[in-house]
Amino acid sequence: MKIERVTEPDDAAVEAVGLLLRQLSPRRKPPSLVELTELAASPGTTLLVAREGDAYLGMLTLILYRVPTGLRGFIHDVVVDESARGRGIGEALTREALRLAKSAGARTVELTARGEREAANRLYRRLGFEPRETNVYVWRPG
Ligand SMILES: CC(C)(COP(=O)(O)OP(=O)(O)OC[C@H]1O[C@@H](n2cnc3c(N)ncnc32)[C@H](O)[C@@H]1OP(=O)(O)O)[C@@H](O)C(=O)NCCC(=O)NCCS
Repeated sequence: MKIERVTEPDDAAVEAVGLLLRQLSPRRKPPSLVELTELAASPGTTLLVAREGDAYLGMLTLILYRVPTGLRGFIHDVVVDESARGRGIGEALTREALRLAKSAGARTVELTARGEREAANRLYRRLGFEPRETNVYVWRPG
């Protein structure tokens, strides 16, 4: 199993991202090839995938962004295929994202995980993430 960055998505990557996304947010529309290509080309955005041969076993997206308080990181859309869970793939994806964030000079890396996502919450705490006392707000257009 290897962790790699998606730089030039193809149809296989689009299909894999769609299958993985369905296991995270079943109602969310998966990205098209054009959207995934845009994502891969976005400065500060890194789409990592875990691969074994041709199979895509998991993914994670790291965002690095600069604000007046410094370079910050955010991790989104972490998912490992149901058939491959419990093998350390989620850990390997997250560790690679943290390595990239640290070497870029990020001061913090944040993520959110709903309480019912037990495996995710255990994983993140095991890797050193601490719950932060703040209110998380979301705004949606319309
Ligand atoms: C959270 C998630 C990415 C973890 O991926 P993973 O590759 O299984 O992660 P790891 O193997 O590195 O470890 C995760 C933990 O869950 C346990 N686990 C999860 N699924 C398991 C399974 N099917 N069999 C055995 N153990 C499992 C692992 O043993 C480990 O527990 P520990 O921390 O107490 O040792 C994966 O469970 C997942 O995709 N869940 C659904 C989507 C989701 O919740 N994403 C996170 C959004 S915040």
